[in-house]
Amino acid sequence: MHRVYLDYNATTPVEPEVLDAMLPYFSAEFANASSIHTFGQNARAAVEAAREQVATLLGARPQEIFFTSGGTESDNHAVFGIVGSTAISPKSHPHVITSFVEHEAVLNACQALEKQGVSVTYLPVDQDGLIDPQHLQAALRPETMLITIMHANNELGTVQPLEEIGRIAKEGDVYFHTDAVQSAGKIPIDVNQFQLDLLSLSGHKLYGPKGVGALYVRGGTRLRPLLYGGHHQRGVRPGTENVAGIVGLGKAAEIARHSLANDAKRLSALRDQLEHGLVNCTPHSRINGGRAPRTPNTANLVFPGVEGEALLIALDLKGLACSTGAACSSGAVEPSHVLTAIGLPAEEARASLRFSLGRHTTQADIDFAIQIVPAAVAQLRQLSPTYQRAVTYDCFFFFFSASLLCTLRLCVLFFSLFLSVPSVNAVLRKAASRSN
Ligand SMILES: Cc1ncc(COP(=O)(O)O)c(C=O)c1O
Repeated sequence: MHRVYLDYNATTPVEPEVLDAMLPYFSAEFANASSIHTFGQNARAAVEAAREQVATLLGARPQEIFFTSGGTESDNHAVFGIVGSTAISPKSHPHVITSFVEHEAVLNACQALEKQGVSVTYLPVDQDGLIDPQHLQAALRPETMLITIMHANNELGTVQPLEEIGRIAKEGDVYFHTDAVQSAGKIPIDVNQFQLDLLSLSGHKLYGPKGVGALYVRGGTRLRPLLYGGHHQRGVRPGTENVAGIVGLGKAAEIARHSLANDAKRLSALRDQLEHGLVNCTPHSRINGGRAPRTPNTANLVFPGVEGEALLIALDLKGLACSTGAACSSGAVEPSHVLTAIGLPAEEARASLRFSLGRHTTQADIDFAIQIVPAAVAQLRQLSPTYQRAVTYDCFFFFFSASLLCTLRLCVLFFSLFLSVPSVNAVLRKAASRSN
């Protein structure tokens, strides 16, 4: 069966070049990067080269990059590491600012902090998923220790105004962390331009391997370790380095840096085509978050009258893979917290699908999606008594209002004719008297 993958925000395939770079570090170059012998030094050199490659992607210095097990660990380390850098007591009232649309890796970390007595402000977002910097400014307190706002949203692709947030954080003298798991490699990032203190990224979202990520930590930032162990990575993140994974992440970062502009141009054109095609061919469908700046590869659409999970399965049976929201929350019955935060009612949030394109997406893939999605939606809608009822009510309401409008217009026409008759007569009489 012909299969098309439009779920690149869930994960990406490892690029062949990345795999080639990694392979020697599973066998021939298997050494521990902390060993001082030649074998170890070869592994160490590979890890440090990767650190430089990741740093270059972010405009950071290599010594500010710490390798982790992925985006979740990086997010947790940023949140707990900053807040834990000073002792929490009933007298200190540490405060953190985040948003309602963060990934669970940040949201659940913040909720855990709340249980420890930390106060957390969750900023609302507008209907496109953007926070209002004025809300952020107003939420700042003297006790605010950390602002953690994601760069690009995993479900909508909306890109938050990091430069403005960074300015507010700097003026307030507050640490600023961003979860850049969905933006790294897709749109430009410069930690200095955004005045970031911490940034998370993940290998498997940028054509690198799973189980490896990085945390950028600006020099001089007070960060408590999340794990305790040996002296690896200066004790900030102990544990024997995953050399092959780190080499893969470094190579993936290097490829992303070179291909970012071309990928973005090509993917945004394909994404726009997909959106137009689906909206034009599927009555009542709409784009979620379409007016905000977005990552070039992400489209999220609502198809009122269908159950997202049912549509996802129907499309999968026809060979198209997409997602009902964050892959990490798939299977959960709750509607997406991101879609409800932008104001969608629960049934519309449940009727939404995310299509995320990637480096290997072709024009033929988009044509295929435009061909099968509207048909699948129509089929499911036919089986949905609530949608059929809503359409019947819509039709009834349309014809009722149209006929009411026609009747009103006829009445107005009739009365205006009726009222204008005497004046016509008067004009004729005047004309006749003048000719006499
Ligand atoms: C925005 C965001 N942050 C964090 C994560 C977690 O990253 P990882 O899968 O590497 O733990 C994800 C994964 O989907 C994500 O989309």
